[in-house]
Amino acid sequence: MYFLHWRSLQQRKVQRNPKLFITLFICPVLIMILYGIYSIEPDMNPITSARKNSKASLPTGYTFIHKSNSSFEDEFSTSIKNHTEKNRQRRLKTYSVSDRYTKFGMRDSLLCWEDSKFMGSFEENCNFIKRYPIGDSLPYLQELGLAGDFVDFPNPRIPVIVTAASSNHFLEVQALMQNLHSVVFPKYKNLKFIFYDIGLNENEKEMVKKHCRCEFRSFPFEKYPEHVQILKGYTFKPLLTQTVLNEYGFVMWMDASIRLRTGKLDSLFEMAMKKGITIIEGDLGVGHRTDPSTFKFLREDPCLFVDKNETQTGFFLIYRTRFTIETIMRPWVSCALTSGCMYFPGSQDRINCVSPNELGTCHRFDQSVLSIILWRLYDPDIGRVYIPGTFFEVHRSHTARYFEYLEKKSKLLIV
Ligand SMILES: *[C@@H]1O[C@H](CO)[C@@H](O)[C@H](O)[C@H]1NC(C)=O
Ligand SMILES: *[C@@H]1O[C@H](CO)[C@@H](O)[C@H](O)[C@H]1NC(C)=O
Ligand SMILES: *[C@@H]1O[C@H](CO)[C@@H](O)[C@H](O)[C@H]1NC(C)=O
Repeated sequence: MYFLHWRSLQQRKVQRNPKLFITLFICPVLIMILYGIYSIEPDMNPITSARKNSKASLPTGYTFIHKSNSSFEDEFSTSIKNHTEKNRQRRLKTYSVSDRYTKFGMRDSLLCWEDSKFMGSFEENCNFIKRYPIGDSLPYLQELGLAGDFVDFPNPRIPVIVTAASSNHFLEVQALMQNLHSVVFPKYKNLKFIFYDIGLNENEKEMVKKHCRCEFRSFPFEKYPEHVQILKGYTFKPLLTQTVLNEYGFVMWMDASIRLRTGKLDSLFEMAMKKGITIIEGDLGVGHRTDPSTFKFLREDPCLFVDKNETQTGFFLIYRTRFTIETIMRPWVSCALTSGCMYFPGSQDRINCVSPNELGTCHRFDQSVLSIILWRLYDPDIGRVYIPGTFFEVHRSHTARYFEYLEKKSKLLIV
């Protein structure tokens, strides 16, 4: 009532005195608009504006270590050559190394303790990971929700399903969508599914948009350092996982080769919420499938990873907590954003493992780095974050012409 009264008074006043109206209303509005225009920082080019972001700060507990320098390189070579005095109880074993180790002064072999363990408490190992060099990633961390203060999320119960594909996986990803639509979608009504285009042609894009029952996004390569465009460096995967995790708090990543055996995923979701991450188990050693440059960059000793099987980034669930952000996602994403850590020039040709018995015989990028992080966190009990095999199958090169089938089906329905 009071408000109405005030308004009618105001109207009457305004009718009587238009100048007063201008002073009372137009001026403040103009001031607000002008303030709005001038307080927006130019955002035409996200990279430049991100680089200028001097306010970017790290979460508490981080030490800013830039790229390793040459004195550290010597230190690395000495430290991985000198294991003889560490532990007299265990047996020393000779491991053959690939020629990638030559630049660290190792010709044919590396002497490591068999079955080596990570020393220190869980907390000490968390801190060790947090101190991995941050490389060139600082300007990007703020926007990705990896710097500054951690804000907790209102507990999502169901993850957002995320996948990505370029043209060479177009038929495989259709088979994944067929699997999701028939097995998982009927079980969860409000499921969110995001597809990232990382290199489809126009026609393929249209087909995905029409049939995926998903949110279609183009991966913003232009925002990130140039090497992220090299798809065979797989650095896009940590970046888009973190992008969606930052928005929705719970992500289920699926490669185009993953098929779910069941749509009853409640227990899997609960497992992920409880542990922070669940991931599939691999069957080859991290030391064999990681380049020594990555170990050097992270200040990790390859000997600690020789007998430890990889975890596979083809299928994993991650839940947003302070622990997963600071101890898993920040180090993983920082490494992805830094040429010389996850990707380094020339590494895109190194994914094929020629000699399974040599250390550093190939490199697995996102998978190598996440495996290193998870072993340091969970050794010797890493099994507790493995996704039980009852949930999924891996079907590499399993394809389907699902979109064609849907097109035909809709034509039949019309006729
Ligand atoms: C190089 O790395 C070593 C070992 O981490 C460190 O002590 C030293 O301060 C670094 N030097 C420079 C110039 O950054
Ligand atoms: C090898 O490591 C031991 C302790 O673990 C150290 O005392 C010794 O100086 C190291 N040797 C070299 C050559 O670095
Ligand atoms: C690694 O995987 C292989 C092949 O599945 C298996 O035989 C071996 O026991 C695994 N190693 C460990 C330490 O789990």
